[in-house]
Amino acid sequence: MSSQNVYILGIESSCDDTSASVLLNGNVLSNVVASQKVHEQYGGVVPELASRAHQQNIVPVIDQAIQQAGITKEQLSAIAFTRGPGLMGSLLVGTSFAKSLALGLGIPLIDVHHMQAHILAHFIEEEGYEKPTFPFLAMTISGGHTQIVQVNDYFDMEVIGETIDDAVGEAFDKSAKILGFPYPGGPLIDAYAKEGNPKAFPFTKPRVDRLNFSFSGLKTAVLYFIQKQVKENSNFIQENRDDICASIQYTIVNILVDKLKKAVKQTGINRIAIGGGVSANSGIRTALKEGEYKFGWKTYIPKFEYTTDNAAMIAIVGYLKYCKNDFTDMSVVAKARIDL
Ligand code: KG4
Ligand code: ZN
Repeated sequence: MSSQNVYILGIESSCDDTSASVLLNGNVLSNVVASQKVHEQYGGVVPELASRAHQQNIVPVIDQAIQQAGITKEQLSAIAFTRGPGLMGSLLVGTSFAKSLALGLGIPLIDVHHMQAHILAHFIEEEGYEKPTFPFLAMTISGGHTQIVQVNDYFDMEVIGETIDDAVGEAFDKSAKILGFPYPGGPLIDAYAKEGNPKAFPFTKPRVDRLNFSFSGLKTAVLYFIQKQVKENSNFIQENRDDICASIQYTIVNILVDKLKKAVKQTGINRIAIGGGVSANSGIRTALKEGEYKFGWKTYIPKFEYTTDNAAMIAIVGYLKYCKNDFTDMSVVAKARIDL
């Protein structure tokens, strides 16, 4: 790509993580993430509180990212920021800051699509990491997204399946809330599931058209099941915690794998790359690895820190756009919803 030294500052503030990262020619020099604890007590992200926390975090986080990279802000080549999709109040903080800093430093500004960034995170330069080759299928699974995307090239992507209601992370977190776990409960379900029997309590899988997903029915099924059992035995959750978690996780993993099998069949593409916080789930990781020998898949799972919301993924898109002189101007505004 570029023969000169290109330093990109990435800024991510679409949801509840304030993050800044500096990349040198696609290599990560720093990737600072400030997560917001304030939402834990509410069992989900409160947009107004997220926006306020971004306001508090943005300056120290960016400062730290530049310091850790061992450069000065005057060395930056361009600034990349998340334009959307996301929570408007959160996006505004990163967008306004990126615009002001680019203006102050007199350097180009690059707008980044958050979902594209989750996918292009696979192209962060990382020793020993084999990048996917085009075309490939990307499954982005997090608290806010559930999509299967056919990726033909860096900026040629098509959503071929997505959730019609809840995201998969919500299925984990809402089930966890029903069981009385703190937010976000996904990692806890994963941990307890390891000790449980995945077939102890069968939950029916939803029937959804084509490559789309639905997770709201599962949450309701878990709720009714637990309410009924607790009525008969008030200690039901405590006595069966691991089996309940294993059964919920087993159902979710099956839903995802079924759609992936269908997507591979439909597109003839067997390279599968995953992204988003839920890709940390051990059940999903195991199922994907099994897919390699069971169905001939080739799977790509990036480092955990590049799968959850982070600014290194924003900066890599910034770098790829920088290399083709794809800049935006000061009239750019944040957008809560944008198509891929
Ligand atoms: O990508 P992310 O950090 O933020 C966005 O939602 O964009 O993803 C967070 C989601 C939460 O729903 C969390 O419960 C889920 O990822 N998660 C997990 C695991 N680790 C994180 N879900 C299941 N198993 C895990 N190990
Ligand atoms: Zn995300």
